[in-house]
This record gives sequence, C-alpha cells and structure tokens, in this order.
Amino acid sequence: MSTALRVLIVEDSESDAELIIRDLQRAGYVPIYERVQTAAEMKSALEREDWAIVIADYSLPQFDAFAALKILQENGRDDIPFIVAAGTMEEDAAEAMMKAGAHDYVMKDEARLIPAVQRELEVRRKYKQAEQAFHQSEQNYRSLVENSTDIIMRFDKEKRHLFVNPSVKGVLSLDPEDFIGKSHRELGFPSDEYIHWERAIQRVFETGKPFDIVLQSKREKGYVTIDLRFYPEFSEDGKIGTVLGIARDVTKERFTEAQLSHAQKMEAIGTLAGGIAHDFNNLLQAILGYGEIILLNKNENDRDFEKLQHIIKAAKRGSELTSQLLTFSRKVGSKLQPLALNHIIENIQTMMDRTIPKMINIDYRLSPNLLNINADASQMEQVLIDLVVNARDAMPRGGTLTITTENVIVNEDNPPPYPEITQGEYVQLTVSDTGHGMDIDTLQYIFDPFFTTKELGKGTGLGLSTVYGNVKNNHGHIICYSELNRGTTFKIFLPAIELLEKPLEKAAMEKPQGGTETILLIDDEEFIRDLGKRILTTFGYSIFTAPDGESAIELYRKQKDAIDMIILDLIMPGMGGRECILKLLDINPQARIVIASGHTIDGPVKDVVNLGARDFIHKPYGLRQMLKVVRKVLDKE
Ligand SMILES: Nc1ncnc2c1ncn2[C@@H]1O[C@H](COP(=O)(O)OP(=O)(O)OP(=O)(O)O)[C@@H](O)[C@H]1O
Ligand SMILES: [Mg+2]
Repeated sequence: MSTALRVLIVEDSESDAELIIRDLQRAGYVPIYERVQTAAEMKSALEREDWAIVIADYSLPQFDAFAALKILQENGRDDIPFIVAAGTMEEDAAEAMMKAGAHDYVMKDEARLIPAVQRELEVRRKYKQAEQAFHQSEQNYRSLVENSTDIIMRFDKEKRHLFVNPSVKGVLSLDPEDFIGKSHRELGFPSDEYIHWERAIQRVFETGKPFDIVLQSKREKGYVTIDLRFYPEFSEDGKIGTVLGIARDVTKERFTEAQLSHAQKMEAIGTLAGGIAHDFNNLLQAILGYGEIILLNKNENDRDFEKLQHIIKAAKRGSELTSQLLTFSRKVGSKLQPLALNHIIENIQTMMDRTIPKMINIDYRLSPNLLNINADASQMEQVLIDLVVNARDAMPRGGTLTITTENVIVNEDNPPPYPEITQGEYVQLTVSDTGHGMDIDTLQYIFDPFFTTKELGKGTGLGLSTVYGNVKNNHGHIICYSELNRGTTFKIFLPAIELLEKPLEKAAMEKPQGGTETILLIDDEEFIRDLGKRILTTFGYSIFTAPDGESAIELYRKQKDAIDMIILDLIMPGMGGRECILKLLDINPQARIVIASGHTIDGPVKDVVNLGARDFIHKPYGLRQMLKVVRKVLDKE
C-alpha cells in the first residue's frame, strides 16, 4: 500500500517530526508534510492545503495542542482527524484533549501512533462516504419535490406551513417563502376554503390516518379543482409531529370526465328521443296526409275548412317538434357542402336585426379571411337563430350580443378546450351575450331535450338540443361558458376546408305534379298504405298495395309489367326491406324502387339505398314532397 498522505505536524522538534514521517513511511504511506510551530504558521498552512490529518505535540514553546485544535475548529475544519502525539502520557491532559475534540491522544512511538492514524483515517473515509451517500439521496428527493407539479407542503399542529415546494408559486400571487410560518387562514385564503384545509389537517393529527378531499379553489383565472391528500409524519417517539399535504390540480381530468359522461348521456337521450320521434312521425304523417287530402277537396267557404286548417297546423307543429328531436338524435340527413360561414351570418342578419330589440346592441366581428367549412347551410342558420334567440331572452333589459368568426388552429401549442377536438384547422363561431347567465346546475342540462328554465308556454327546451344535434351533424363541437349575472358564451368549432366560394341556393316552390303510372306501395302499417294510396290516386296514379315483403314479391312477380315504380318501407316485420329490395331486383333488375323511412338517409338506410334504390322519401312526407320524388324517379330514365 502506498498512499499519498497530506500531514500537518504541529511540532517544535525537527527530529521528532522526522520520526513521525519515517513511521508513516514504514506503514506504507507517502507523507507530504509541513511542520508548524506557531498559531500564524498553522493558520496559513490550513489556508494553503487540504490536510488529511493533523498530528500535534502536546506542548510547544510558543504553541500547544489546545490552541492548534481551536484554530482547526475555528476554520471549520474539525472534520480533519486531530491526533495528539505527546512525549509523555498524562491521564488528565489526555482526558482534557479528548473533551476539547481531539480524535486521539497517543505516545510518540510507532506502536501507538500508526494504528491511531490508520483508525482515524478509516473513520473519516467512512464518514465521508456516508455523507456523500446522504447528500446524493437528499439531492434525489429534493429534485423530486422541487420538480413535482404537485404542491407539496408540511404543516405543524397550528396548521402553519413549515415547508412548501416551488409549485406553490403564484397561488394567490404568493411566492413559496410567503407561505412559511403561516396558515391558510393567515394567508388570506377565503374562509370557505381554509376551513376545509384546517379540518383535514386537524383530522390527520387526531386520527393518525391519511385523509383525502377534493376542493374547489379560487385562482386568478377562475376556479380549479384540487385533489388533496394529507399524511401523518411520525417523529421518533411515535407521535405525529407534522402533517404532509400533497395537492394536485385535477381541473382538466375532472373536466374531461365530465365531458365524457355528458357525451354518453347525450348519446343515451338521443337514442331514446330518436326512437319516440320516429314512431310519432308515422302517426303525424297520417294526420297531416289525410288532412291535406280532405282540405284539397274543400273550398274556403266550407264550414270545415278552418277546422281542418287547425288540424293541419297542429300536426305540422307536432312534426316540427319531432323533427327537432330527430335532429337532436342526429337522425336527419345533412347536405354538407362548402360554405362561407360569414355568408350564412350575413344572410340572416336582416332577420336578426329585425327580431332583436333595439336595446340589444349586436356586434358582428367576422374575420375577413375566414376559411370555409363543409356544412349544411340551413342547419347552420338554425344554429345561429337558436343561439341568438336564447341570447335575446337572456337580456330582457338590453345588453350586447357579439357574433364572432375566426380561424383557429388546434395543435400541441394550442390544446383544444374540449378533449374530443383533434388537431387541425377550425372555424370558430362564438355567440356571446351579456345577459343573466347561468349557474353550474343549469349549465349541465342545457343541451338536454325539453330542459328549459322559461315559464310554461315560453320555451319548449328544444332550442339547444337542436343546436347540439346540428353541430354534431356538421362534425362540429360546441362548448358553453357562463357565469351568473355576467353572461354566456357559446363556442362552436367546425372543421375548416380550403378557401372556396360557393353561393347558397334557395329551393324554389313548385306546383305538385301527378301522373298516370302504376305504383306498388309496400308498408306494414295500414294507415300509411291508405294514406299513400289516397295521395297518389288523387293525383292520377294507379296503386297496388302490399302489407309485407312476402306478398309484395308475389304480387310483383305477377304484375311486374304493369308496375312502373315501387315505394318500399324499410322496417317491416317478416322479410325486411333489405331482403325485399334484393328479391324485387332479382325479378326485375330495372325496377324503380324508392325507400320510405322515418330514419335518416345515412347509416343503415344508406346501405339499402346503395343496394339499388333510386331515391329516398323521408317520413313524414307532405303531399308535395312525395309527389315530387315520385315524379322525379319516374321521369328519370
Ligand atoms: N344565452 C343564454 N343565457 C342564459 N341562459 C341560457 C342561454 N341559452 C340557454 N340558456 C338556458 O338554457 C335553457 C335551455 O335552452 P333551450 O334553447 O334549449 O330552450 P329554451 O330556450 O328554454 O326553449 P326553446 O329554445 O325550445 O324555445 C334555457 O331555458 C335557459 O335556461
Ligand atoms: Mg331557446
């Protein structure tokens, strides 16, 4: 073993020092040494070098071991082993030296000195190692705590902060240091917040068990949801000395969860509402259809004319309601086409300006270089009207209605406000009012069908459900922000497409046209068969009817040359519409088949239409619509 050893020797005798060096050399060390005899020399030696060990004579002419040890301690270097190597062994002196902090007191002979040196160096080495390990582990934990996005705190029995990590910065605009020595109450947190903190900490001190709570906490930008966990920290005597608190901001997660369960709820209500609306459609179709037929044969002087008009009006209103429900449950088809959203707004601007009272100021902020969207124009108009009407109702004493359009990009730097929104370019429509706003309890139900806070007869609660369905139908997303007495903002995100102008067309009204062809009407519901028969025969057509697929096939096989067209209900017991259409085409591949259904053209209906049907009639059909489709299909070769 040959190890360099920096030795500081406090010794007046040159030869004694040399003896010590020789002993060390013999033990395998390579001593690099310096001999000092005075306090001044000792001080400067300590400043110059990092000594591994100090070996000091007990007393020197101008200096002694006590004074040397004191200098070492004053320099903060009492970690260096200090061994007194005295000429004589005196018990009292040895005891006093050890008390003063010397590591050992030995005689100046090799037999005693070397083992003492070896032992002290070893102790120091181990100590240093442990210190390093401790430092490392402390560093690890410090880094964990300091870099944690959770807020980590330690509280004493008075619920005052003993420690907080840097994450706390900015809470109530405070710095971490501001928390130390103060409780939440003393820091000026609102009382409905600090009460919960205090109770929770108190509880952990009392029970010795961890405790969790979730709190709403007011921050500069509004409320955040905080998940709080408290843990007892036991001191050596087994008592709870402090309580550790970990606070995590779960606002985003909670929001995502809420959105998800909201989406699921809307899905479920949609299915239910869609089912009811579909069945109602059939009933209304009968009322409306028969009503129209009777009315057609009467003139204005007839005593039943007005009553019939009432029946038809009521049935139409009913049909409007069911179609709103169908929109909500997304059971209506949309004609998506490239649109400039600004045009839609401009189109209905006059209408809006007329319906909105003067004391409401309308502020249009339409982006001049707005990207286009792929959307259904009339559905987008409907969305705007519903939102504007609601805003009007929310501002009975006036205010400002702002309609904004702008392009927004959702990417990593601009995360979406709604978890379902994927990255990409969007056109954002914002409708904002300064009205009475809503509380959180109202806000969570606004999109539900029939949810309204308006008095009986004033609102059906279908406005926003239709908005929701229309937005979804156009592949968009809608979010509502509202604060009581402050106002409400609806934001709609619609996927953008490239810039492309296309004017809107308005379908012109046409006169109903009849014909002389023969039509086979297949429907399992008797009143629908009768209704169809009445409408079509009134307008000159000849009709065969069949109540199910089986009898229709049989009839068609016999009469296929006489039948020019087939109207087929899609959903029937027994042989369904799908099988029926295939069999009909099997008999005559040229058969003109039109599908009639209360469901949308999308989804299952689309598949069947794709099997070879010529067109689609949406139930309930008015007289005009049915006649129009029939004529269109018959006229097409
Ligand atoms: N801009 C708004 N400000 C405040 N509350 C609103 C606003 N828009 C909607 N609401 C609330 O949401 C509820 C539901 O709105 P929705 O449009 O679906 O139905 P409605 O307006 O009550 O009736 P309907 O639109 O069918 O005539 C309203 O009754 C109202 O409480
Ligand atoms: Mg409304």
